[in-house]
Amino acid sequence: MGNIQTFGVAGAGVIGAGWAARALAGGLHVLAWDPDPEAGQWLRETVDNAWPVMEKIGLHPDASLDRLRIAESLETMAASADFIQESAPERLELKTELHRRIDQAADPVVVIASSTSGLLPSEFQSRCRHPERVLVGHPFNPVYLLPLVEVVAGERTAEASIDRAIQIYADLGMHPLQVRKEVPGFLSDRLQEALWREALHLVNDGVATPEELDAAISFGPGLRWALWGTCLIFHLAGGRGACAKC
Ligand SMILES: NC(=O)c1ccc[n+]([C@@H]2O[C@H](COP(=O)([O-])OP(=O)(O)OC[C@H]3O[C@@H](n4cnc5c(N)ncnc54)[C@H](O)[C@@H]3O)[C@@H](O)[C@H]2O)c1
Repeated sequence: MGNIQTFGVAGAGVIGAGWAARALAGGLHVLAWDPDPEAGQWLRETVDNAWPVMEKIGLHPDASLDRLRIAESLETMAASADFIQESAPERLELKTELHRRIDQAADPVVVIASSTSGLLPSEFQSRCRHPERVLVGHPFNPVYLLPLVEVVAGERTAEASIDRAIQIYADLGMHPLQVRKEVPGFLSDRLQEALWREALHLVNDGVATPEELDAAISFGPGLRWALWGTCLIFHLAGGRGACAKC
């Protein structure tokens, strides 16, 4: 499993719990830390709820709920994990400071990945002693079901760290997609936001209601998007000439 045994979770909310479930199902040990004293219980309940689905999908032979542990401190977690996924609230100062603390405590070879939905990894690197192992691994909710993870390097991320993260995510059954340039919002959310902006315009102009716009997606293009991206769909819609290039 990418030569890691313990998957570290910093921030055990919706996304951190999703990572924990996926890593446990992949046979890893999970060590989680969250400042909220009630987060541990919530994390266990969330993972318990997800487990029957994970069993249907297929568990690693070593997978066990007993491999989930709650760390006493951020530093304990960071010092014990072989890979760390940060899933704290989407606030730049909070995440930058959190990365500084994780970087202080973690062995320099340990990759630190942020689940951020759109902040830049170069910012998270700014206070780290080992910025070369800091990157973004942006997942999609629920993390234990959706395979996509956008992998984004910061200005000082080493290529070896990107390769390592991609290998670890792939070993967990994910589809890692490396984003070529560091841009806010990465790829999927930029595409989703473009659609959302247009929906707001259409509602504002009285062209359609939110319910009608949802129907315009879910009974049509949404069904195709479950399988293919927009570029391939338009390519296929180009007719015989386009298909000949497929
Ligand atoms: N919810 C989504 O659909 C989604 C999808 C992809 C990525 N993300 C990203 O994942 C991250 C977490 O989002 P979420 O939806 O799980 O939020 P959440 O509010 O459910 O969970 C955040 C957790 O972080 C904890 N926390 C607070 N301060 C902290 C600190 N200083 N250090 C560590 N943990 C701290 C909170 O107690 C909470 O348990 C964000 O960066 C978000 O943009 C969210």
